[in-house]
Amino acid sequence: MAARIGIVGVGMVGSAAGYALALMGVAGEIVLVDRSPALAQAQAEDISHAVPFASATRVVAGDYDALAGADLVILAAGVSQKPGETRIALLSRNAEVFAEVIGAVRRVAPDAILLIATNPVDIMTDIATRLSGLPPSRVIGSGTILDSARFRTLLGQHLHLSPQSIHGYVLGEHGDSEVLAWSSAQAGSVPIRAAAAQMGAAITDEVVARIDAGVRRAAYRIIEGKGATWYGIGAGLARIARAILRDEQAVLSVSILTPEVVGVKGATLSLPRAVGRAGVTADLLPDLDDVEADALRRSAQMLADLAAEVKL
Ligand code: LAC
Repeated sequence: MAARIGIVGVGMVGSAAGYALALMGVAGEIVLVDRSPALAQAQAEDISHAVPFASATRVVAGDYDALAGADLVILAAGVSQKPGETRIALLSRNAEVFAEVIGAVRRVAPDAILLIATNPVDIMTDIATRLSGLPPSRVIGSGTILDSARFRTLLGQHLHLSPQSIHGYVLGEHGDSEVLAWSSAQAGSVPIRAAAAQMGAAITDEVVARIDAGVRRAAYRIIEGKGATWYGIGAGLARIARAILRDEQAVLSVSILTPEVVGVKGATLSLPRAVGRAGVTADLLPDLDDVEADALRRSAQMLADLAAEVKL
């Protein structure tokens, strides 16, 4: 039977994910749920008008009952960052939203994998894991999938190579403490600094600083200009959904509750992980230099400490 994907919260991020899923032809049915039924209906109708150009996906609006039997439910409900606001500042407002949403989803779609988009996504993924009672491997946060895409895009631009041929990951928090894993990045099968030298585009300290800011500050810049981000994250959510529904075992930097990493226990953070029909099936932590390992340790400890403060 064709897969059913639910999206709870169809503001800009949720609807962009629905649009990307429809264009990708990942699911047989996409069910949009929102606290505003009128918004859900309008988004479903609008996205369904794109379907004839792309796929044979049914896009419908409904209430939580319409999620029955869903294979995957994307949680994008909550409020988004205001200009200059950190993702962590959203925490209390969005934790309340999840307390209501998770219970409703679990009642009607007990076998669904949960894909978390709401920011601060790492802590929200921790909260969803605890509220749902599901194993961490089946509660996946979009995490740094978008940051890794930004990293690959900027490296590709610098080297004049396709981002699809750049292999590099951002680890840790989807946020200010994230870690760009420069030492393991590659162009094709060539370590990135050697590839840059071959391409005559040396990766100098200035290039590192420019690309780091380009990744780490991307959301703040875009929010200043248009109020929110949605296309990049929407496509990233659809990419994760495709890996799950097609059982790709694709290596993607996503966030789940992680027993231990770099000596920190119980952090929910992003690492490169194999993603398939059962959710996350393996972690693939790249070799890190000392600077990267220390930065990941700080990011992980911050997330673990913050999650411990959230009483459910
Ligand atoms: C961003 C949002 C999704 O990084 O946190 O664009």
